[in-house]
Amino acid sequence: MFSFNMILDELPERINQLNLSFIAPLLCLALIFLLSSIFLAKRSPKVFLLDFACYKPPVTQMCGKEKFLDRFRIYGNSNEASIDFMRKCLVRSGLGEKTYMPSNLMRDPPNLSLEETRKEVESVMFGAVDALLEKTGVNPKDIGIVIATCTILNVEPSLADMVVNRYKLGDHVLVYNFTSMGCSAGLRAIGLAQGLLKAHPNTYALLVSPENTMQMIYRGNGKSKLLMNFPLRVGGAAVLLSNKPADQCKAKFQLLHSVHTHTASSDSSYQSIYESEDDEGFGGVTVSRELLSVAIGAVEANIRALGPLVLPLSEKVRYLTNYIIRYFNMAEVKPYTPNFKKAIEHVFPHVGTKPVLDEFEKNMGFDASDVEASRMNLYRFGNTCSASVWYALSYGEAKGKIKRGDRLWQIAFGSGFKCSSAVWRALRNVDDDDERNPWIDEIHEFPVDLRNMKSFAEVFDPAKKM
Ligand SMILES: *[C@@H]1O[C@H](CO)[C@@H](O)[C@H](O)[C@H]1NC(C)=O
Ligand SMILES: *[C@@H]1O[C@H](CO)[C@@H](O)[C@H](O)[C@H]1NC(C)=O
Repeated sequence: MFSFNMILDELPERINQLNLSFIAPLLCLALIFLLSSIFLAKRSPKVFLLDFACYKPPVTQMCGKEKFLDRFRIYGNSNEASIDFMRKCLVRSGLGEKTYMPSNLMRDPPNLSLEETRKEVESVMFGAVDALLEKTGVNPKDIGIVIATCTILNVEPSLADMVVNRYKLGDHVLVYNFTSMGCSAGLRAIGLAQGLLKAHPNTYALLVSPENTMQMIYRGNGKSKLLMNFPLRVGGAAVLLSNKPADQCKAKFQLLHSVHTHTASSDSSYQSIYESEDDEGFGGVTVSRELLSVAIGAVEANIRALGPLVLPLSEKVRYLTNYIIRYFNMAEVKPYTPNFKKAIEHVFPHVGTKPVLDEFEKNMGFDASDVEASRMNLYRFGNTCSASVWYALSYGEAKGKIKRGDRLWQIAFGSGFKCSSAVWRALRNVDDDDERNPWIDEIHEFPVDLRNMKSFAEVFDPAKKM
């Protein structure tokens, strides 16, 4: 009968009988496949987010609306008409009574020297980094990359240098500082870190986004500059990324995509948030009436680039069909907004200002519960620029909403005009009782019902769909 020994005996003969010319290409293909997968794996190492931390300033820096206007009376040269204009916008701004202003402005009398401003930004930045290092237990010496972002404060040595000095990082640390890069800089930094982590194996990248409003505060009376004064508040976040394979089991999230859009080649986009001096010589940032259109345009362009990476096939087909019909004028149809809820469990848009957030919700097919974290973030912490998407994510965590396998989408937009997205996958259920979460003591008070709060959208031209 047939036995194993017989097979063995016959094996050499059988191999001889086989047509090797048929096997050779197959082997080649397998080899190519193997090598290319090794090569690709080498080319794109996984990027993990070990953890992040948001700074919660002390109560002494809490600044309600009337207190805010009072500070302006002391510090600014604004006349009562300007104060009234700011008050009218503030009450409809979506901001609550507990946001924070810089310590050096809250003091009596305010001291706005560079030294005091530096101290203020250090407390925000180091506060966030201290909490992050404590959370992760990472030794600062193992950090190979530091990226600092801040919307407007520009000091020498830079913010990133301050981090290197304070935590005594190694001599070979790679340092980048993004200043004057708007509120999307923090997520843009994720893209930069992703590229750097590809080139530098086995290291950590530390991203810090402290926000200091002082240098942006406008002391004159031009309405288009006063608009920038009231939504910005103090806050800061620190994020630790890793490309060490062993961190997969410790990390919170894995980076799936980062997508960046820059629309500054259009003049209206470029000038929509523009720093200059007014006729009296007061410096400030002009916000143009076209801001809403520009912002929604940049967000849509970013989403068009992100869509193909994340959307399921059915949504891509719907979008493409709609696009073709409109392109060739085959029928009168509205632009189809892809349903991102089929690809993503949580979205955390940058807070911007209330009118921008309202437009985002309306135009991108989200509902109130989807943007709850961002609205509460605007209410509690104000617009903390690059740190804002991290406060929003902390809100989701404190609510116990982030479960293993969930996909999270952060999207931020700001001057330039620029828009950046980062999409993450949760590698584990995220604890909702971390004492360093800035929401943890008060999360039971949220969400606050803001449905009756009107917006100050009339200061902008209505957004038109691009
Ligand atoms: C402001 O702070 C700086 C640096 O700490 C100090 O030298 C200066 O005297 C202070 N100015 C006022 C008016 O208090
Ligand atoms: C980095 O920081 C320095 C000093 O603060 C500043 O002059 C420079 O413009 C910054 N670079 C970028 C790219 O933001």
